[in-house]
Amino acid sequence: MTLFPPRPRGMKGRARELSTLVKMVSAAAPTRLALVGPGGSGKSMLAAALGYRLLHRFAQIHWFRTAAWDFRTVVEMLALRFGTPRQRDELVPALRRWLSHEEHLIVLDNHEDDRAMARLLQELASTRATFILTARRCLLSGVLVYPVTAPLVTSGRNAFPRVATLTRSLRWSPLALDVANAIVETGAASVAELAAYLASRGVGAVAVMEHEDDLPEVALLVGWAWRHLSSPSRRALAVLAHVEGDHVDQDSLARLARLGASDGETCARALAALADWHLMQEPFRGRYTLHAVVRHAVRKRATIPPRRVFEHYVSMLEQHPERIDLEQTHLFAAMDFAYREGDLVAILRVEDLLRNLEDGQGKLDRPSPTRASRPA
Ligand SMILES: Nc1ncnc2c1ncn2[C@@H]1O[C@H](COP(=O)(O)OP(=O)(O)OP(=O)(O)O)[C@@H](O)[C@H]1O
Ligand SMILES: [Mg+2]
Repeated sequence: MTLFPPRPRGMKGRARELSTLVKMVSAAAPTRLALVGPGGSGKSMLAAALGYRLLHRFAQIHWFRTAAWDFRTVVEMLALRFGTPRQRDELVPALRRWLSHEEHLIVLDNHEDDRAMARLLQELASTRATFILTARRCLLSGVLVYPVTAPLVTSGRNAFPRVATLTRSLRWSPLALDVANAIVETGAASVAELAAYLASRGVGAVAVMEHEDDLPEVALLVGWAWRHLSSPSRRALAVLAHVEGDHVDQDSLARLARLGASDGETCARALAALADWHLMQEPFRGRYTLHAVVRHAVRKRATIPPRRVFEHYVSMLEQHPERIDLEQTHLFAAMDFAYREGDLVAILRVEDLLRNLEDGQGKLDRPSPTRASRPA
């Protein structure tokens, strides 16, 4: 499994940004650059596209989701991936040596903790690693900040020609336009029908948003899709919205959504519909997730019992400890759930599992419980 996301397909309106960024990074590597902008403005997509454009420039490119992990967890995560020693005294020096041999491009996606990041970048400042962060905010000195806004918004042009007339009502949001574009492209609705639907639901109304993941235009499109999706697709969407780990494979999805695990067909069809309307992301082949904004909208419509997710991943890892590399974030989510519930039996079960995994493999990065709760 490649650990860099697939090359973004269908990225629109970013030619200028990409060529500027390619020059900015190539001319000054090793360097540190943060792509900063609001939720769903397209930072991660741009960072992935940039990685592919810079493939020839760097010996290796890497992708990590950092979220709000603390310093120790982030360095352990890097060490795990690079196979460098993880003993406390050796952890940072070994990473430094490894990153000094040749030029690496390291994307740290969804950066949230400035303090942890400052320490990380400073500790690795003498290496040949170039770091690209994506972040909604970034209060770091010594890092070049490149603002990311919705594609073409500053020039007032349309990045999605098929749904150009929806651009203003969807406030140029590439996330919303991409979903609208996909709905129209599949023939499920015309642009006029979508426009009428959005208007009837008050898309332009002024209201206070709950937080950055609360984008009303995306919520409205999710609402439209919800009414047109089959029940298995809705159930799959609900599971994706409630699982706290990073991404889910088809088998787990089928089980958690009660789609009949033996019947791969039903699940594949359910997922195909979500993929057709760009409601779902596939960050790695065969592993699915939702964008945080879509996730927030779906969570308002459907729920699944969190204990079901806990039970699924904990028993999976008890029976198949070898799956820990792929399913690691689900273990941390299970730990977080057990602590949050104050469920002693669950806490002890996860502790046992962790001990067995560590004994068996000696390679687990263990964040503090609260760190595991951030949605993907
Ligand atoms: N230039 C673009 N062309 C087409 N679609 C885009 C573009 N930018 C973003 N999108 C759509 O919006 C979605 C969200 O983009 P992305 O995940 O890059 O946002 P983000 O800024 O990283 O959000 P967050 O802050 O929540 O991490 C993409 O999955 C894609 O569907
Ligand atoms: Mg992102």
